[in-house]
Amino acid sequence: MKAVNALYEAHKIAFSPFVFETAYTMLELGVLESIHNHRTGISIEDVAKETGVSDYGVRVLVEMAEAAGILEKNENDLYITTKIGYFLLRDEMTKVNLYFTHDVCYEGLFFLKESIQNGKPEGLKVFGDWETVYEGLSQLPDQVKKSWFDFDHFYSDNSFDDALQIIFKDQPSQIFDIGGNTGKWAIASTKYNKDVRVKMFDLPGQIKVAKENVGAIEDIRDRVEYQEIDMLSPTSEIPGGADVYWMSQFLDCFSEDEIEQILLKIRKNISKDGRVYIMETFIDNQRFPAATHSLVATSLYFTAIANGNSKMYTSTAMKYIVNKAGFECVKEHHLHEDSFHTILELRVNT
Ligand SMILES: C[S@@+](CC[C@H](N)C(=O)[O-])C[C@H]1O[C@@H](n2cnc3c(N)ncnc32)[C@H](O)[C@@H]1O
Repeated sequence: MKAVNALYEAHKIAFSPFVFETAYTMLELGVLESIHNHRTGISIEDVAKETGVSDYGVRVLVEMAEAAGILEKNENDLYITTKIGYFLLRDEMTKVNLYFTHDVCYEGLFFLKESIQNGKPEGLKVFGDWETVYEGLSQLPDQVKKSWFDFDHFYSDNSFDDALQIIFKDQPSQIFDIGGNTGKWAIASTKYNKDVRVKMFDLPGQIKVAKENVGAIEDIRDRVEYQEIDMLSPTSEIPGGADVYWMSQFLDCFSEDEIEQILLKIRKNISKDGRVYIMETFIDNQRFPAATHSLVATSLYFTAIANGNSKMYTSTAMKYIVNKAGFECVKEHHLHEDSFHTILELRVNT
């Protein structure tokens, strides 16, 4: 790269929050929508009339957006959206990521340096006085909660169909869903198979929400049980008795040592035929650079907001911890093309 281009890239980084907030604001105020609806281009004055935003407001936004490649001017000197603008406006995944960044991460990321220095999620204080975001999840402001759950569900929902086929190939009758959150997996799996029983393990706030969600569905509610648990407590235990121990997007909420401790808790009581399935978005299993970029960014959400010590892992790192905890990865399931997830299937290492 030529020095002049590298300097330009460095400046883009120096001003990157301005570009981000411009994209967010243009979405929120309908400016991007208005411009995109005029395929032959639109002037600043007409965008202002359509959206009710001042001429000044539209002008500063579109000038930044043009410099960032979100908009361009056509031969008539009118603004149109570029492909980047189109994806910001219409691509569901981009929007889920953008709103998660804005609503959940933006303010807290200000404290990234302190989070790294102290090994604590120092940015979490913008929402409340908790050790981890999971303790406060059910009490977050509505918009923050919505963006958190949209982000979480967008990724896991997209892989549940494949996951169900993998998990049910051995006809389990009892599944333990560890970190079951709002009960989405408990609902999906008990609907998928009319005999299976599911027991969910999670912190009290999430168990309460899951009970409400599952309780509203008549056909399944009698087959779902719940156990409030803090997996980080040295005294908490995972009982035996399940054919399948399912952990989806759960272990990334913990440090490497904590993951080993959690796996050891499962290892202690699991039967020799029991299977453990870990579903994760591993950094090293992505097809597209955009996915890898999103995952390494998500690690910093864990650093500054979630818990201060976890991250998105590589599958190599996860398999190393799995082995240390006395399990063997017998199969690595790669899901459908559009999925970002991998499922590691583990058996007890005898
Ligand atoms: C990222 S969510 C994953 C939810 C769900 N399994 C999915 O695939 O969408 C992580 C879950 O782990 C739970 N969790 C985090 N720390 C925990 C702890 N110390 N003990 C028990 N559950 C915990 C959270 O409450 C949350 O429901």
